[in-house]
Amino acid sequence: MQHGTVEQHIADLLSHPKVVETRDHMHHSIPKHDHLMRSVKYSYRFARLLGADQRICLRAAIIHDIDSRLGTLTTHGKIAARWAADLGEPPEVCRAIESHMYPFGPLPRTREAWVLVLADKAATLGDLKQFVRGLLDGSSLERRRQLKQTDPFYRTRPRSFLRRLTMRRWLAQ
Ligand SMILES: [Fe+2]
Ligand SMILES: [Fe+2]
Repeated sequence: MQHGTVEQHIADLLSHPKVVETRDHMHHSIPKHDHLMRSVKYSYRFARLLGADQRICLRAAIIHDIDSRLGTLTTHGKIAARWAADLGEPPEVCRAIESHMYPFGPLPRTREAWVLVLADKAATLGDLKQFVRGLLDGSSLERRRQLKQTDPFYRTRPRSFLRRLTMRRWLAQ
């Protein structure tokens, strides 16, 4: 990945407090920021492969799960898309964000939206790999414990371990 190019497109978002705070939020049992950056990485690759607009794809990727805890598996795309629109992002970015959970949600209707669907799925597999690798030395569980302390969702809504274990919930986290 050409970091210079990527940073030119999303520098303002990388330093936005809502993106920075995702370092302390849990998503797929790892920091949400890791998932967002992994989505950016795959969006960059897939945008090149599919001939999609790189800037649209990268901006959609770094935003796509902002405030995901306020929604469900099928509705959180809409919540992040609304946040992007309020920030002044163009409709192409917002549309891609809204359909990123396909098939759990709206059908992607643009090339950029399809890039985000694929990048998000690839990033999710990477997240799982990161978590499993960290199980070997205990770092994953330690990080998870820390995230539960810093993620406001866990501070305000303690839930049973068994409920969180289901795949549907893991995907939405
Ligand atoms: Fe998502
Ligand atoms: Fe995601």
